[in-house]
This record gives sequence, C-alpha cells and structure tokens, in this order.
Amino acid sequence: VSPAIVIRNARVLTMGSGPAPRRGQAMRQLGVIDRADVLMSDGVIRAVTPTGSGLRIEAEPQEIDAAGRVLMPGFVDCHSHLCWGGSRVDEWERQLAGETYQQILAGGGGIMSTVRATRESSAGALACDLLGRIDQAVGTGTTTVEVKTGYGLSAEGELKMLEAIQKARQYAVADIAPTLLLGHAIDPAFARASDFVDETIARTLPSASAEATRLTGLSAEMIAIDVFCERSAWSVEQATRLLAAGGDLGHPTRVHADQFTSMGMIGRAVSLNARSVDHLEATTADDARLLGASETFGVILPCCGFHVDGRYANGRMLVDAGVKLALATNANPGSAPCPSMLMAIALGVRFGKLTVSEALVAATVNAAGVLGLRDRGFIAPGARADLILLREHDERAVAYEFGSNPVEMTIINGKLVSN
Ligand code: NIG
Repeated sequence: VSPAIVIRNARVLTMGSGPAPRRGQAMRQLGVIDRADVLMSDGVIRAVTPTGSGLRIEAEPQEIDAAGRVLMPGFVDCHSHLCWGGSRVDEWERQLAGETYQQILAGGGGIMSTVRATRESSAGALACDLLGRIDQAVGTGTTTVEVKTGYGLSAEGELKMLEAIQKARQYAVADIAPTLLLGHAIDPAFARASDFVDETIARTLPSASAEATRLTGLSAEMIAIDVFCERSAWSVEQATRLLAAGGDLGHPTRVHADQFTSMGMIGRAVSLNARSVDHLEATTADDARLLGASETFGVILPCCGFHVDGRYANGRMLVDAGVKLALATNANPGSAPCPSMLMAIALGVRFGKLTVSEALVAATVNAAGVLGLRDRGFIAPGARADLILLREHDERAVAYEFGSNPVEMTIINGKLVSN
C-alpha cells in the first residue's frame, strides 16, 4: 500500500485514449491537458482532472506543485540486454581502429565473448550488476524495462540468467519484463550449426519456458521468445523453427531482424504473427508496408547506430507505412552501452526522423504494447502510477536536450523513487 500523492498544476501528457497501440497520425497525439491535477494511491492513478475543477480527495495526500511543468508516463524500455557479465571495452577500441562489429562477431568475439564472461559469472553477481544498470535507467525516466537472457546459449546458461533477472525483479524499483532470447548466436562449440539449433529447440526452449514461468510467476504469454536473425547468427529457417516452437508453448515471439541484412525475416515474422520485429536498419520499403498492414510491432534501436556504424532505422518510413512503432535503448555491452531512453529518443528524432510526439508515443504506450502490458504508458484513472515529472514546461525538451537530464522526479507504482 502506498500513500496518496497528488501532483497539481501539471501540463499532463495523457497520451490520449488508453492502452491501444497507435499507428499513423495517432502517433502524433499526446492528449495534452494544459493544467491538470493527477491523484494516485496504492500504485494506481485515481483521477486526472483539469486544475481548478474541484478534485475531491478523501485521505491527506502528499502534494506536489508542478507549476506548469510536464507530467508524462514513465518510459517503457521494451528492448534491452541489461544482464551480462564481463566487458567489451577492448573490442570497442578495436572497432574504433577499424574492425567492424560483424568481423569481431565472426571471429568468435562480440556476443560470444559476453557469453563466455556471463557463463563465468554467478547469478548473484549478474543480478548485482543488472540492478546497478537499472538504477541508471530509472534516473533517466525509465519505469518499466524488458531484460533479455541470451548470453547463456545453453539450458544451464539461460537458466542462470533467468535466476539473475528474477533476483533483480525482487529488488529493482523499476518493473522488469523478462524475455527468453534463446537464439542470440550459434554456439561454435557445436560441430554443426544445425546441432545447436536442434538442441536449443528440443532442450533449452522447453526447460527455459517451464523455469521462467515457475520462477517469475508470470504466464507464458507475458514472456517472449526472441532470436537474432542475421548472416552470422540464426537463418530465417532456423529462426522460424524456434519461434514456431515458442509460439506452440504459448509465448509471444520477437525477432532481431534486418539489423545489417534484409533477409526476408519481416514477412516470415508477420506470417508467424510475431509480437515484434526489432532493429530494422536494413528494412526495405516493401517490408515496411507489409509490417504496416500487420499487427506486429516494429521496434527501432537508434543507440545501436550511434555506437556501431552510423546506420539508423528509417523511423519516418515505418510510421508513414502504418507500422505500430516503438523505440528502445537496446542497452547491451556490444552494440549499445546505453541504458537511457532519453538518448534513444534524441537519436530517434534526429536520425530516425520521427517527430517528437511520435518518439514519445513510441517510448511509452506503444512500447508497453510490445511487452503486452496494457496498464501503463498512458495517464488515466485505473492505469499504473508510473510517471515522470520534467524540469521543463515543454515536452520537446525530452528530445531536444542531450547529455543532460530533463527528468526531475520519477514515480513508480505510486512511489516517489527519485527526485
Ligand atoms: O540487438 N544483435 C544482436 N543483439 C544485440 C547486440 C548484443 C551484443 O553485441 O552483445 C543487438 O544489437
């Protein structure tokens, strides 16, 4: 039970009409109430009323005067790899000297070097590092964060990551949504790639699926199965097999698709009714149209372009094609060492060519939709009280500023967690 808080005189971005994902023109509507009071208690928003319209409050709430500053939903980071062991700083220096991300990956480094370091870490150490990274995310306005496994690449390794994520779920102030990224790479210890794929589908998937629901208490439909489809990772056929098997167990499915190469995974994901396709740097206009005509979300990850090679997903093309678009950090040690949604938004607007409003919708209500969370990402009575109060009176500051922090105060599940 958390005590009541009322925030008065705020410029409130309600994000409009409830949890339904937005596409097209609807991605520009922030549902602004220029001056409103927002009352919350026990983790839930109870009332949103224009200031001066006589909000009736029974208990004695904590009062915060926003003085016209912006109050908006907290960010939902719907794609992160925040749980990992080891460091890739040395590899990054090699990239600065000219090697590419893919060359390092093909040479047994990259994801595989983090897999080795993660296998050597204990669940407790992984959980501790994860909690520290989540604190950084919360400080920049993130209130819900998805965390993927994916650096285990075996039943044992993935279960240890799950254990670490579950420990963090118990202590983190942000809400954590776990995802099973069972197809992150092909383990080179297997003589043939197909042996590793068979092992993942026959053994790792069922045991990770059962353990994930048991450990977290979440139903399978709240835990996605994910795969990285790329030349040096899983092929379209291999990814399709894993996702189909995951779907048969009741999980939503997600794919890292078109990061470097357009391989035909978008069409396949749409026909599998995947929850999302993520990355999309190499997506063609035809595939954008296909995606826009489907229920599958697109997720762009512009921190990756900033850190790896200056290639960005064309957010403008995707929104114009009618895609339900979300935006996330992709925080990970290789392609995006950045837990800040503020940075992702700043880049999504500059290089993905989103409008500020589209980026804010993509970072809140649409991102919640990717995670199947219908109780957040908007401000309305009954929604979860996950809110951020900005230092600014103009929400465009979120995208305009970079390297600073326009978030003054973060409220998660009705509790003031930072200010
Ligand atoms: O989404 N591309 C695959 N996975 C991550 C990178 C992970 C890593 O390099 O460790 C991504 O960019």
